[in-house]
Amino acid sequence: MNNALPKDFLWGGAVAAHQVEGGWDQGGKGLSIVDVLTSGAHGVERVITDKIEAGHRYANHEAVDFYHRYTDDIALFAEMGFKCFRTSIAWSRIFPLGDELEPNEEGLRFYDDMFDELLRHGIEPVITLSHFEMPNHLVTAYGGWKSRKLVDFFVRFSEVVLRRYQHKVKYWMTFNEINNQRNWKVPLFGYCCSGVIYPQEPNPEECMYQVLHHQFVASARVVSLGHAINPDLQIGCMLAMVPLYPYSCHPDDVMYAEIAMRERFLFGDVHMRGHYPAYIRREWQRKGYQIAMEPEDEEILRAGCADYIGLSYYMSNAVRALGAGTGTALSGFEGSVPNPHVKASEWGWQIDPVGLRYTLNQLYGRYEKPLFIVENGFGARDVKNEQGEIDDDYRIAYLRAHIEQMKLAIVEDGVEVMGYTPWGCLDCVSFTTGEYSKRYGFIHVDRHDDGSGSFARTRKRSFDWYRQVIASNGETL
Ligand code: BG6
Repeated sequence: MNNALPKDFLWGGAVAAHQVEGGWDQGGKGLSIVDVLTSGAHGVERVITDKIEAGHRYANHEAVDFYHRYTDDIALFAEMGFKCFRTSIAWSRIFPLGDELEPNEEGLRFYDDMFDELLRHGIEPVITLSHFEMPNHLVTAYGGWKSRKLVDFFVRFSEVVLRRYQHKVKYWMTFNEINNQRNWKVPLFGYCCSGVIYPQEPNPEECMYQVLHHQFVASARVVSLGHAINPDLQIGCMLAMVPLYPYSCHPDDVMYAEIAMRERFLFGDVHMRGHYPAYIRREWQRKGYQIAMEPEDEEILRAGCADYIGLSYYMSNAVRALGAGTGTALSGFEGSVPNPHVKASEWGWQIDPVGLRYTLNQLYGRYEKPLFIVENGFGARDVKNEQGEIDDDYRIAYLRAHIEQMKLAIVEDGVEVMGYTPWGCLDCVSFTTGEYSKRYGFIHVDRHDDGSGSFARTRKRSFDWYRQVIASNGETL
């Protein structure tokens, strides 16, 4: 048996435009929905302010200034030996309002230059088209993805960048963690995924399914279009995978977990199989939901199945049949209870490396398509020691344990995994809390929640560790 990872395994790191770039009003960029989203903290919700209001902090405006410093950052990625780098394109840099006919050349040039810099170092760009942001105008003028018009706007944006960068970028993904908004009770998720605050809608859940239909159609059209532009392009979907274990072997818990997992699998099913599964049609019938679809949609979905599944994996959850539980529900997942067998991070994310192997097997068993772990990582408060260094052994331990499980999935179970890009390889602004204190990077950025800091970059202990992991193709952990 071959115990080694494939030679062309894509080791790298991941970020998203709005969490690193800054330069929020430069280069002709338009106002994006995340530009009016305030900084928060653990336990302090981010506020959606509609316009920029005095008295608030907006960490995404400057983020970690990658917009001006990407040359140095990419040199550091190259020093670690990155084979690929995942980021996203800020839609509002290319179409500042979102509904224009002509793109903003300055925005296009920025990504041209950044991709050239990566390629100069032999680093393959991996690009998400929509990572939790969109032009704010599309929300104020059209109601975000509630409107079918968004499909055409998104396809136009995608066509421009797919054509422009087709010889620089091979790996693409459509919507980052599209399934987050299934959790429609949390305003931040719907807002960032689609520009819709579901709890404010008269029928939030039905609205969420309508929005999703628009995004599924948009995603499928982009996959087909991308293949027509250049058959070499690989266009994936992107799912947030939090496996939901049955809390016990009580058949009710097991069945409940099975049903709860549909909240994840629905997204894989439509993207990878090209049609809506029976269980969701039954759910709509039962609840009396009418999801508006055009006659051509069925064929669009069928023709535009994604090439691979990009996934994020940070944690697992356990669920208990509703009404049967005594545990405290964890935020976000109905019926979820703390799992006594795993520990959680300071932010309550349950650390479970075996859950990664489990997830990879579940996805591969269901779809038999390549998987790409495009996010995994440990958010923690990093404190400098007396020498001014960060000994982030806790991060190394987390990543090591997850890579070990990934290797088992590949080597023992035969799962096809294209690559591994830990989240926030460069410290960046946290998505859920909008703070700097929750850090994931191999590279520390001197920027703090009170707005102080020089943006200087320093290598953490994990930097050298990860360099060796890549150099040994995952042998030296
Ligand atoms: C994923 C997102 O949800 O997890 C990223 O795709 C995000 O954008 C990451 O930053 C980690 O979440 P957080 O809230 O710790 O930044």
